[in-house]
Amino acid sequence: MNILGIETSCDETAASLLEGRGDKIKVISNIVSSQIDIHKKYNGVVPEVAAREHVLNILPVINEAIGNIKPDAIAVATGPGLITSLMVGVETAKTLAYAWNLPVISVNHIEGHIYSCFIDNAAKIKFPAIFLTVSGGHTMIVLMKNHGELKIIGETVDDAAGEAFDKAAKLLGLGYPGGPLVSKEADKFSGGSGLEFPRPMLNKPNFDFSFSGLKTSLLYKVQKDKKWKKRISEYCFKYQEAIVDVLVKKTIKAAKKYDAKTVCLSGGVSANKTLRETLEKEAKKEKKTFIKPEFKYTTDNAAMVACAGYFNAKRNKYIPWQKLKANCNLDLK
Ligand SMILES: Nc1ncnc2c1ncn2[C@@H]1O[C@H](COP(=O)(O)OP(=O)(O)OP(=O)(O)O)[C@@H](O)[C@H]1O
Ligand SMILES: [Mg+2]
Repeated sequence: MNILGIETSCDETAASLLEGRGDKIKVISNIVSSQIDIHKKYNGVVPEVAAREHVLNILPVINEAIGNIKPDAIAVATGPGLITSLMVGVETAKTLAYAWNLPVISVNHIEGHIYSCFIDNAAKIKFPAIFLTVSGGHTMIVLMKNHGELKIIGETVDDAAGEAFDKAAKLLGLGYPGGPLVSKEADKFSGGSGLEFPRPMLNKPNFDFSFSGLKTSLLYKVQKDKKWKKRISEYCFKYQEAIVDVLVKKTIKAAKKYDAKTVCLSGGVSANKTLRETLEKEAKKEKKTFIKPEFKYTTDNAAMVACAGYFNAKRNKYIPWQKLKANCNLDLK
């Protein structure tokens, strides 16, 4: 079965054609038109500008993704995200479904991030599985007992992990998006440091996170330090260390509690090398299989949406195109 995936929840216009057969997934195309260069000058995404760019890009991107192949179904990310951005993908999916008489699948964007792990590893993921999904707007630990049986067991009570990276980068004058820039600076640092960042909620008896205090702690430290500009890589290293430490410890705690066979990592922040390596090491210590997506499937893309769509299609989770609706607050089922 060939699925066309469409993703426009934030500032990436993306389309992908994916072929699924049993547990075998083949990504035929994965086209992403990024608007990063446009939003860079504002240090963040401007929703109105993003939506206008999606309108310009969506059809050329879909055309490039499908080539001469007519898909069997369309999967589209319907939320959460920026409502005006989501609407472009959703209305395009509706129009194509009507014109081509194709069934449609509504995909939760975070479910998409989770399914990025299945693209190359579907047969290796054994249930129950624990997913740490960390992105620009979300930080969640999700327990997956089977396809269609997902439960959020922990999430951030304030900022997302990606947001914490982005805000630190802004504060330190590094630019946007912050994650890769903070991580690049952190890689330059080696040796000892007297800097210590808090580990928010680490010892709370739940799987929730809080990252807003970390950013405030960075602000206060920098305000007191006249030489902070000469210590940027040290600040980045210790700040990243604090985020990774909390994420990894809580995920492993959840994996142990729920007796997970597999630990998976996904979302834009899963591109972070230190997080990938540390979680892998700790999961292996606990004898859990560890799965991470290829780099190109970490930040927003449509292959992950098509993959989630494929597994939903296998369970007949189609909806009539008339019912397809963009929803910025869509809950993970
Ligand atoms: N190497 C990295 N290290 C840390 N963070 C990173 C890295 N690469 C990307 N990120 C972060 O990932 C985030 C983008 O991820 P993603 O595209 O999944 O987010 P989003 O789609 O905007 O949010 P959401 O998926 O929650 O709706 C940004 O916050 C970015 O800074
Ligand atoms: Mg995302």
